[in-house]
Amino acid sequence: MSIKEIRKVVIAGGGLMGAGISQMFPQYGYDTVLYSVSEMDFVKACHVIDKSQQVLVENGRLTAEESKKIKESICLTTDKECFRDADLVIEAIPEHIEMKKEFYEEISSFVKEDAILTSNTSAISIDDLSAFVSHPERFCGTHFLNPPHIIPLVEITKGSRTSQETCDILYELFASMDKKPVRLKKDVKGFLSNRLQFALLREATYLVESGVADPEDIDRTIRYGNGLRYTCSGPFKIVDLGGVEVFRDVARYLYPDLSDEKKENRLLEDLVREGNLGIATGKGFYTYGESDLENEEKKRDRMILKVLEDEE
Ligand SMILES: NC(=O)c1ccc[n+]([C@@H]2O[C@H](COP(=O)([O-])OP(=O)(O)OC[C@H]3O[C@@H](n4cnc5c(N)ncnc54)[C@H](O)[C@@H]3O)[C@@H](O)[C@H]2O)c1
Repeated sequence: MSIKEIRKVVIAGGGLMGAGISQMFPQYGYDTVLYSVSEMDFVKACHVIDKSQQVLVENGRLTAEESKKIKESICLTTDKECFRDADLVIEAIPEHIEMKKEFYEEISSFVKEDAILTSNTSAISIDDLSAFVSHPERFCGTHFLNPPHIIPLVEITKGSRTSQETCDILYELFASMDKKPVRLKKDVKGFLSNRLQFALLREATYLVESGVADPEDIDRTIRYGNGLRYTCSGPFKIVDLGGVEVFRDVARYLYPDLSDEKKENRLLEDLVREGNLGIATGKGFYTYGESDLENEEKKRDRMILKVLEDEE
């Protein structure tokens, strides 16, 4: 199979990520289907799509006409028949291995022999998921970050049974859609972005628990310090620019002092136990008002688009 043979893309799971991912394909001419289990899912999906498209139009990324076309081009369905002639299926259903198992086993009997199947799982091993598909050589990880239609990164993870051809086609496909794909040469839980994100979160919550700083000041440290550098270079470029020797010396001194908690994140466990699930319930590390979710998302999307504008 080559990239030219990919015409129809089915995104499975009409939630936050499925709705986001589905918006990327119509403007590149792909027949785009968003499949979900319940018609009710499309109420949320359409809301996510409308909001995201509005931000793109407001920020000059699309004209109102282009945006209207994109929205009209996404076919919403609960009919499994949509998988029969799909060339690419991107699974974005909930992060439960049992649900994913059931999904893959069921659609395996629908999809074409040469269709490519991928998972947007945040952390589950691609090798573990590949046990549920009939052609593991055409199965791999494609992990997008939220909001997927704006964040350029897509992590392409090669499972031990994934063919190189499958990874190459997906790399070429996403590069041609102005994404910034990265290759994971082998399967690893959490892939690159979540392993890095959770290493930082482990240390951040350790610092709060140890009474060193409040969440607000740790967020400010990243936002006005490290985060700004990370928008233009990664950790390795930062080392090169700062000088390898000093980083080597600091690593020697600091590593024994860093958190190496293996079991759980106690702060997160406590918040969940108390029912404080973040912006959705009005309280997490911060307290939120009713309109905050909408405003925070808009602000985030606008800032990301600005950074990307300078990048281009
Ligand atoms: N939310 C994020 O920030 C984020 C980021 C990156 C990756 N992911 C991953 O993407 C996947 C989806 O996450 P989400 O946040 O969009 O979840 P979500 O709960 O918002 O949406 C999942 C959707 O899938 C539907 N669904 C359930 N079973 C299904 C089935 N068998 N077939 C089709 N649809 C089904 C649900 O009804 C729901 O609409 C997960 O694996 C998650 O870990 C999430």
